[in-house]
Order: sequence, then C-alpha cells, then structure tokens
Amino acid sequence: MFRWLVNFGFLALPIAATIGILLGIQSQREASGQPPLFVPKLDNKVVETTYCQKSFGVHPETKGQEYTLNPNQWGWTQGDAGFLCMNVTTFNNQTYATNTTAPEWKIFWQYPQATGDGNNVHAFSNIMVDGGVFPAGLKSVSKIGIDVTWTMRTDNDTGPADAVALAAANVNANVAIDMFMDSDKSKAGDSAKATYEVMVWFAAYGGSTHTVGQDVGVVATLNLNGTTFDLYYGVNLNKQNVLTWKATAPAQDFHGDLRPLIDEIFKLGRTGYPTEADYLGYFSFGSETYFSDKPVTFSVPSLSVDVRTN
Ligand SMILES: *[C@@H]1O[C@H](CO)[C@@H](O)[C@H](O)[C@H]1NC(C)=O
Ligand SMILES: *[C@@H]1O[C@H](CO)[C@@H](O)[C@H](O)[C@H]1NC(C)=O
Ligand SMILES: *[C@@H]1O[C@H](CO)[C@@H](O)[C@H](O)[C@H]1NC(C)=O
Ligand SMILES: *[C@@H]1O[C@H](CO)[C@@H](O)[C@H](O)[C@H]1NC(C)=O
Ligand SMILES: *[C@@H]1O[C@H](CO)[C@@H](O)[C@H](O)[C@H]1NC(C)=O
Repeated sequence: MFRWLVNFGFLALPIAATIGILLGIQSQREASGQPPLFVPKLDNKVVETTYCQKSFGVHPETKGQEYTLNPNQWGWTQGDAGFLCMNVTTFNNQTYATNTTAPEWKIFWQYPQATGDGNNVHAFSNIMVDGGVFPAGLKSVSKIGIDVTWTMRTDNDTGPADAVALAAANVNANVAIDMFMDSDKSKAGDSAKATYEVMVWFAAYGGSTHTVGQDVGVVATLNLNGTTFDLYYGVNLNKQNVLTWKATAPAQDFHGDLRPLIDEIFKLGRTGYPTEADYLGYFSFGSETYFSDKPVTFSVPSLSVDVRTN
C-alpha cells in the first residue's frame, strides 16, 4: 500500500533503514488520518530511472512478487576513481508479465584495479526478493524457480555476452545468486551474521573472480536443465561457511528450480553445511563488479523468482 514511497527515495541510507523509516512515517500519517505523501500514477507508462548512489533501496510498487534493487557499491567511496549507475524500468500500472516477474534493470560501471592486496570487489549490484517471502524454513521451501536472461558487454548493444570482448577489456565480474542461511531466523537475513552463505554463479569473467574454496577443488557436480554446476566450499574472512555452485560455462539464459542444489548440500551433510533445520533469510541476484579497462553494461531484461513453500 505505502511501499511505493521508497520509489521516490529521498534518503540515501542503507536499504533496511530507508524502508523502515519511510514505512514508519507513512503508517503514522495513515494512523492520524493524513493523506499519503504521494499518489502513484496508474497509467500504462514505462519509466526508466537512473540511480548512481553508493547504496540505495529502490522498491517499485507491484501487484505481484516484491523486489528491492540496490546499486550497492559497498567497496567504493564517493570520490574514489570509478563509477556505477543502475537503471530500473518500472511500469506505472504495477503489473508485470507474470506475478513473479521483476522490473527490468541494468548497471553500467567501470572501476580501476586496486593495487597491492586492496579489496577488488567494488559493488554487488543486485535485486533482492522482498515482501515477507523470507525467512522461510528450508524444510518448507519446495521450489526456487528461476527464469533469467542477462547480458554483459563493453558496448551498449543488446546481444549476448561477448566473452572475447570482455577478456580483451580485462573485465572482472561475476553474475550470481546470493543466499544466506542460519538456524536463527533473524540472523538468516543478516549477510554479516548468518552462518551460511550459499551462492549460485552463472558466470565468472576474469581471473579475480574466484569462489571461496575454489583452490581446494570441486566437492560435487550437478546438472540443472542443461547447465552444469560445480560446488565449492570454504570459510570466508568473516568466518562464514560459503558454498558456491558455479556454472562450468556462462549460463545467460537459465530456467530451472534451484531446490536440487540445496538438496544436494543436505545430502552431502558435511560439517559447515546448512541443514533442513535452518532458515533461508535472504535471496538476491546480481553482479559482483571487480574492475575493467572499459565501461561494462550488465543488463537483466528478464527475471522471475518464484519461491514456493508448503
Ligand atoms: C502494464 O503496462 C505495461 C507497459 O506499458 C503493459 O505492457 C501491460 O500490458 C500493462 N498491463 C496491464 C494489466 O495493464
Ligand atoms: C538509463 O536511463 C536513462 C534515463 O534515466 C537513459 O537516458 C539512459 O539512456 C539509460 N542508460 C542506459 C545505458 O540504458
Ligand atoms: C502466482 O500465480 C501462481 C499461479 O497462478 C500461484 O500459484 C502463485 O502462488 C502466485 N504467486 C504469487 C507470489 O502471487
Ligand atoms: C553506453 O551508455 C552509457 C550510458 O548511457 C554512456 O555513458 C556510454 O558512453 C555508452 N557507451 C558506448 C560505448 O556507447
Ligand atoms: C528448461 O529450459 C527450457 C529452455 O531453456 C525451458 O523451456 C524449460 O521450461 C526449462 N525446464 C524447467 C524444468 O524449468
């Protein structure tokens, strides 16, 4: 009802705070009988908006599955070299192709390579599944249906990713789903505190895009609807267990249910792996951007995340 407020977002705060604060203000106005601050237009117009903030929650109003988008330049500070902007395309009628279709979005960016052992991940620009879907007990999550098409290019053409051009421009970036899990419901939704991070990498361009535990070797392999994923396990600097399913070749057009990847982790049942007793608290899809010699456009013309629980 009032979530569209964040659309206009005047406050460049961490997204949790932005939504909390604006919801607070709006509920107060409603409780005291004041009219809402803005009235959304319900015509059929398509609006493309650009966000170049370091971190910013964009929460388009929708009649279907809710999403929050964020440029999330966590490894970059205003004034540093490099840039990233996110374009989000919203429908004023709040009705997308299906009830789980996300707004179309893209990022265009360029960061220099850090020297020495500086942090080379500058951003994880992403779209997060929102609207009370999580936390969900992993036992009850019956399906995580993904339909996604993405492209990554060094020009503004709309064709598929060009691995040769990306390599020539020394583009270092991945395309990934990021999930967090924990036995504690609230920690499961906190990327810094959750015990487990489970990722699904659809592509990794450039030598810096190593998964945690990649050097240890492949733990398991699974094929999902034509895409082969290798599992890696390791512990990150924050002492979190990181399990990464990495596609053996870029998967730019993926349609399938991720639940078998989670089931395989349960089946392996090793120390440091999540179990059915844990909660899935966070789910997002995006690109970790490291560095590039040329401006890069990562575009997501079509995405749907259909999470079913029973
Ligand atoms: C909503 O707007 C989009 C973009 O103009 C259009 O494609 C779609 O058909 C509209 N849906 C409805 C239910 O009006
Ligand atoms: C991003 O959106 C703006 C409108 O806000 C548009 O002018 C620009 O062409 C878009 N950029 C790309 C790379 O699509
Ligand atoms: C979307 O529609 C399907 C079938 O029409 C329904 O089963 C599902 O629960 C809906 N999902 C959401 C998020 O509304
Ligand atoms: C691609 O689009 C961006 C944003 O609209 C623009 O700044 C850039 O110059 C374009 N790049 C090329 C290679 O045309
Ligand atoms: C497998 O992929 C094809 C095309 O990429 C798609 O039509 C089909 O629905 C997918 N199957 C599942 C189970 O998602």
